[in-house]
Amino acid sequence: MWSPVFEFDPSCDVVCEMCKLKTRLDGKIAVVTGGSAGIGYETAKELAKYGAKVIIASRNETKLKLATEKLIYTTGNKDVNYKRVDLGSLKSVRRFANELYNEDRIDFLINNAGAVGLSDRLTDDGLNLTMQVNYFGVFLLTYLLVPMMKLSSPSRIIIGTASSMYIGEIDFHHWNDIGRYNVLTSLGTSKLADSLFTVELHERLQNCGVSVNGFDPFLVRGTDIFGNLDTLTGEVSKLFVDITGRERKDVGAELAYLAASPDFDNVSGEYLKFCNVWPNHWLVKDKELRKTLWEKTKDAVRITAEEEWD
Ligand SMILES: NC(=O)c1ccc[n+]([C@@H]2O[C@H](COP(=O)([O-])OP(=O)(O)OC[C@H]3O[C@@H](n4cnc5c(N)ncnc54)[C@H](OP(=O)(O)O)[C@@H]3O)[C@@H](O)[C@H]2O)c1
Repeated sequence: MWSPVFEFDPSCDVVCEMCKLKTRLDGKIAVVTGGSAGIGYETAKELAKYGAKVIIASRNETKLKLATEKLIYTTGNKDVNYKRVDLGSLKSVRRFANELYNEDRIDFLINNAGAVGLSDRLTDDGLNLTMQVNYFGVFLLTYLLVPMMKLSSPSRIIIGTASSMYIGEIDFHHWNDIGRYNVLTSLGTSKLADSLFTVELHERLQNCGVSVNGFDPFLVRGTDIFGNLDTLTGEVSKLFVDITGRERKDVGAELAYLAASPDFDNVSGEYLKFCNVWPNHWLVKDKELRKTLWEKTKDAVRITAEEEWD
C-alpha cells in the first residue's frame, strides 16, 4: 500500500520549505547529467550551495563552461567542474565513466539529462536515438559506475523518469524501430524503461548501501526541453507548460533534496514525485519483464566481460 514519506501539507505550494536541503554536503561528490541547463542546472546549484563538489555533464562545451562559471559565482563554491558526455553515444558514455573513476568517490549520481523530439533515426550504435539518449545511455553510465558507487557507500542514484511513461510500451522486437512511434510514445517508452530499470537495479543492489530511486519532475517551466520540437508543437507545448508547470528552481531544489537529504537515506526502489513517494507504474511489479529488460539492455549496450558485475 502507498504510504507517503510526508503528510501532504495544504498550506504550502507543491514544493515547500520542507523539501529543501538543510544539511551541509561538504566532502561529498555529486554528478549531475544535464547540469548545464534547466532542472539539472538548478539541482547542481543547490548541491554546490550546500558545499558538495559538483560535476555537471552534457554535450555542449560552451554551455557547460558558462554554467560552471555561473555556478561558482552564484554559490561561492569553487569545486564545480564539468565533463563532456553524449548519452547518444556508447563510446562517449564509456569515456565519461572512465574519467569519473579518477574521482575519490561518487556519493550522488543524478541521471537528469534527457531530450524530447529528437529526430527519428538510428545512432552510430544502431539504437533508436530517443531510446539511447533517455534510456540506453543512462543504463550504461549507471551500470559502469555501480562498482564505484558501492565503494562510496552509502551512496545514492537517481534516475530521471516522467509521467509520459504511462503512454510508453515495451516491445523488445520493436523498441529500436524507426518510423513506428510518435514523439510522445517514444519518449514514454524510454521513460518507462527507466522506471523498470530503477526498480530492477534497486533489487540487485540491496544490502550494498547504494539506494536507487526514480524522479519525475512533472511539468517544469523555463527549460529548453521543447527546443527540438517543430515550431508550432514546440510553441504550444511551451505555452502549456509555462501556464501549468512548476518553477525550475523549486524542482531543482527538490531533486537535490531527494538525492542528498538524510530524510531519504532509507528510501530505495521508489518513484519520487512532488517530494514524496508515489505509486509507480503497474509494470514495475512484473519481475520477468524487468529481468528481460535488464538482459536485453546489457546486450544492446554491449556490456563486456570486464565491465560485468552482476
Ligand atoms: N521540463 C519538463 O517539463 C520535464 C517534464 C518531465 C521530465 N523532464 C525531464 O527532466 C530532464 C531535464 O529536462 P529539462 O527540462 O531541464 O531540459 P533542458 O533544459 O533541455 O536540459 C537538458 C539537459 O540535458 C542535456 N542533454 C540533452 N541531450 C543530451 C545528450 N544526448 N547527452 C548528454 N546530455 C544531454 C542538455 O545539454 P546539451 O544539450 O548541451 O547536451 C541539458 O543540459 C529530462 O530528462 C526531461 O525528460 C522534464
